[in-house]
Amino acid sequence: MYKLSPSLLSCDFARLGEEIKILESNNVPYVHIDVMDGLFVPNISIGIPVVECLRKITDIVLDTHLMIDRPERYIKQFAAAGSDIINFHAEATEKGAQIIDEIHALGKRAGVTIKPKTSPKTIVPYLDKVDLVLVMSVEPGFGGQGLIPETLENVRWLAEYKKANGCRFELEIDGGVKLDNLEEVKQAGAEVIVAGSAIFKGDTAANIKAFNAMLR
Ligand code: DX5
Ligand code: ZN
Repeated sequence: MYKLSPSLLSCDFARLGEEIKILESNNVPYVHIDVMDGLFVPNISIGIPVVECLRKITDIVLDTHLMIDRPERYIKQFAAAGSDIINFHAEATEKGAQIIDEIHALGKRAGVTIKPKTSPKTIVPYLDKVDLVLVMSVEPGFGGQGLIPETLENVRWLAEYKKANGCRFELEIDGGVKLDNLEEVKQAGAEVIVAGSAIFKGDTAANIKAFNAMLR
């Protein structure tokens, strides 16, 4: 079962509420919220107040991607704001195990994320604890980049590991996913598909329908 997680980074933020309604009416299960701090990545996006506003208007699973340095400083705030899944970057902290425990204690799903050049072997200690693993298929920071083909190796490795060890994490891919590489991404083993520009540039509803048709 595949799940689509449209990344709001590429949406028209002046129309955020309307776009969420379009996702709901097309049975989109997750919505991907990219949080950037200008330190861990060279860009700044949206944060806690936007998660709070979204929580008030939708029951879609809020899939929060924290591209922030030392995420342990903000786990409580994102949980209180209404995030359902909290993804932190393995590269951004030395407190991964503690963060996962804290997210779980707050009743939320924990995700660990790796950048394209980070070996998935570095997150093995977390793989029996997390609910989700997010593989970046572009360098984090900006929407609209091209998928780095080598990152599909990270997806394949994690899919194999999951199978061999009976792990329960969902495997998510983020960056440069389009209709024309979706089949390859699925074949690599990705289960949760983030797409930003491919969903929100042009006709959102038509784009979602095209993705949904390929994600059965
Ligand atoms: C990049 C973000 C992605 C991005 C995906 O740092 O984490 O979620 O918005 O956008 P596309 O699908 O356009 O690459
Ligand atoms: Zn993201």
